[in-house]
Amino acid sequence: MAEKAKKPIKITETILRDAHQSLIATRMTTEQMIPIVDKMDKVGYHSVECWGGATFDASLRFLKEDPWDRLRKFRDGFKNTKLQMLFRGQNILGYRPYADDVVEYFVQKSIANGIDIIRIFDCLNDLRNLQTAVSAANKEKGHAQVALSYTLGDAYTMDYWKDVAKRIEDMGANSICFKDMAGLLLPYTATELITELKQVVSIPIQLHTHYTSGVASMTYMKAVEAGVDVIDTAMSPFALGTSQPATEVMVETFKGTEYDTGFDQALLAEIADYFRPIRDEALASGLLNPKNLGVNIKTLLYQVPGGMLSNLTSQLKEQNAEDKYYEVLEEVPRVRKDLGEPPLVTPSSQIVGTQAVFNVLMGERYKMVTKETKGVLSGEYGATIKPFNPEVQKKCIGDKKPITCRPADLIEPELDKLEKEIAPWKQQDEDVLTYALFPQVAKDFFEYREAQQTGIDGSVADKANGAYPV
Ligand code: CO
Repeated sequence: MAEKAKKPIKITETILRDAHQSLIATRMTTEQMIPIVDKMDKVGYHSVECWGGATFDASLRFLKEDPWDRLRKFRDGFKNTKLQMLFRGQNILGYRPYADDVVEYFVQKSIANGIDIIRIFDCLNDLRNLQTAVSAANKEKGHAQVALSYTLGDAYTMDYWKDVAKRIEDMGANSICFKDMAGLLLPYTATELITELKQVVSIPIQLHTHYTSGVASMTYMKAVEAGVDVIDTAMSPFALGTSQPATEVMVETFKGTEYDTGFDQALLAEIADYFRPIRDEALASGLLNPKNLGVNIKTLLYQVPGGMLSNLTSQLKEQNAEDKYYEVLEEVPRVRKDLGEPPLVTPSSQIVGTQAVFNVLMGERYKMVTKETKGVLSGEYGATIKPFNPEVQKKCIGDKKPITCRPADLIEPELDKLEKEIAPWKQQDEDVLTYALFPQVAKDFFEYREAQQTGIDGSVADKANGAYPV
C-alpha cells in the first residue's frame, strides 16, 4: 500500500494567553514568560497566542505592566514564530462597541508592534461586527482569522455553521476558526462539522476548544482526521481542566502518522520543566483552583466557558456567596435564553454571568439589571440569533425602541476626543488605545508609570533605563 501523503497538523500554543487566562486568572507576568521564549521559538509552532483582552486588562490592572511593552518583548524574542492575538470584533479588547476609527487604529498598532495573526470574533456571531477589523487587518497585511463562537441551541444547525462559514470566507478572512470556549464540541460532531465545512470553504480551518468537559483531545483527534488544519494546545503544566489539551500529548498522539508535527519532545519537555514551578506556585497560593482542573461535566449542560467559571467562582467568593455556585450555574442558561441565546464568550459571557449572579443574589429575576444587559436587549451589541424574551426586554428597557442596524454605525468617531483626554499622560501613540479600552484602569496605570519613572523622591532615575519610551 502506498504511504499516505503527509499532512502535518499545525499547532497554536496558548500557554502565554488562553491557558493562564483559563487557569490562573491571567496572572502570568512578562517576567515569567520572557526567559522561555527562546526555546518556544524553536518548537515549530504554527503560532503562539500571546495577547488578547484579558491579558491586556490583567497586565494593566493587576500586574502594573504595559501590555504593549509585553508585546514588543515577545516580538523581539520570537524571531521565527508567528504571534497571534484574540480580538473581540467591534469591542476590540474591551467590553463595549467602539467607533470604527478606534478599531482600525488598534489593528494597525497591534500589527505594527508585532502581531501576525489576529483572531477576530464577535460575541453574538454578528458578522457586521467583524467587517471593520477584518478589512483593517487586510489593509495592514496581517492575517485576519475570523472565529465563530461555537455554541449549542436549536438555531445552531449544521446549515447555520456552513452558511456563516461561507460568508466569512467571502468577507475577506484568511482563515476561519471554530472557537469552542466551553468544550461543547463532541468528537463525532467534530467529524461531521469539519467534514461539512471543508466542502464549503477553501481557507484553512482551525479548531480551538477547552478541556472543561473532558472530551477535548478526542475532539481534536476526530477533527484532525476530518481535515482540520490547525489545533490550539497548551503546554502540559497549564493544560487540561478549563484550559486546552496538552501540547505534548497531541504531538505524541500523531507521531508516526500522516499528521506528525515533527516537534521535538525533548525540547517540549524542557519548556514544560520551565513552566511547572509556576504551576506549583499557583497551586500553593490558591491562584490555581483545583476545582477548575478536573472534568466538569455540567459545563455540557450549562455551556459555561472556562474563563467564565473561574470568574463566577471569584465573584461569588467576594460576595461570600460561594454556596450559590450551582444555583448561579443553573440560572445562566435561563438568562442566555432571555437574551436571544447568544454564545457565551466575552463580553456576552460576563453580561449573562453577572446578570445571573444578580438574579440569584437579589432573590428576584431582573430586579437589578446591569447597563450591559440593557445594552444587549436594546440591540447595542448586534443581532442575536433568536429573539429576546419580550417580557424580560420590557422589564429591563421599558418602551425604548431597540436598534437593528450595525451598532457601530451609530457611534461617532472617537479617536480625537480620546486623544485630547489622554494628552496629559501620553508617552507613546498606543496610550490612547489603552485608555480607550479601560479608561480608569489606564489612568491609574499611567499615574503609577509616572511615579515609577520619577521615583518617590522625584528623581528621574528609572527613566534612564528606557523602560518606557517618552
Ligand atoms: Co479559549
